[in-house]
Amino acid sequence: MDTSANTQKLREDILELKRQKNAIILAHNYVQGDVQDIADFVGDSLELSRKAAENHAENIVFCGVRFMGETAKLLSPRAHVLMPTQHAGCPMADMCPPHELRQFKEDHPDHFLIAYVNTTAETKALVDLCVTSGNAEKILRKIDTQRPILFLPDQNLGANLNQKLGLHMDLWNGCCRSHNRIATEAIELAKQHYPDAPVLVHLECRPEVVAMADAALSTAGILAYAKNSTQKSFIIGTESGILHRLKKENPDKDFHGLWPNVICPDMKKITLQGVHDALSGKGFEIQIPDELIAKAVAPIQRMLEHS
Ligand code: 13P
Ligand code: SF4
Repeated sequence: MDTSANTQKLREDILELKRQKNAIILAHNYVQGDVQDIADFVGDSLELSRKAAENHAENIVFCGVRFMGETAKLLSPRAHVLMPTQHAGCPMADMCPPHELRQFKEDHPDHFLIAYVNTTAETKALVDLCVTSGNAEKILRKIDTQRPILFLPDQNLGANLNQKLGLHMDLWNGCCRSHNRIATEAIELAKQHYPDAPVLVHLECRPEVVAMADAALSTAGILAYAKNSTQKSFIIGTESGILHRLKKENPDKDFHGLWPNVICPDMKKITLQGVHDALSGKGFEIQIPDELIAKAVAPIQRMLEHS
């Protein structure tokens, strides 16, 4: 069989297994195009959390990184959350290990802790509230606390929110390496090539990069901006997996990634074969003890109530 016949067979087998196993496939906007194309739903972290919260299927195959699968498990604890591989983590989530945050809490008992959803379940269990890049601004505008705030683990997202909203949150020393690597020179170069194209970047980019952009948004925000704009050409400053959906949903528009290409190596570990493995019991199931689920889901539920 040639490669395209193999892929077609794999797709058919996945759809049949999905039916047999009463499963849904959720995928993040950054995974490879062929995986996005087989998913029941593709979205950003906030949209995927909402889908998990309303899920009734027995099995969720989660095509994204581990913290996203954990969030799905927290919100749909009776479902089996199956990951195509055990090796797709988010290095930024690992930059705020629970023992370090426990120490911070001991040293700063007055702080109100706000976690970006890119955190492990154990870290979520220690915080007051979660946000995603899709709802952080809206939620922070509503927060009414006299307590000092610590925002973790993304110092770039925190700094961008401080700047936009005039806040003075303390920031954890973490970042997304893929987004932090985007340099102002890359934006300048793209602007030289496409001077009329709006620059759309993710909120995880450094503040000096955000300052050069027309908009800094979540991945769903970038997709919505491109769809609703009358412009025909855009510069995209985020992980290149998003280009698949941008091009598919806007065939009459042009999207230009940056040079060097922005890649999240962990998102790229999710493959069609991995989806097949997950559905055939050869993947990795997210397991979270009930006691931890009860603690870690609370800040996520607060987030969903506010957003
Ligand atoms: P979104 O919630 O915007 O999809 O972002 C998730 C993420 O990990 C970005 O790097
Ligand atoms: Fe984590 Fe960055 Fe990958 Fe998003 S792009 S999953 S923040 S490492």
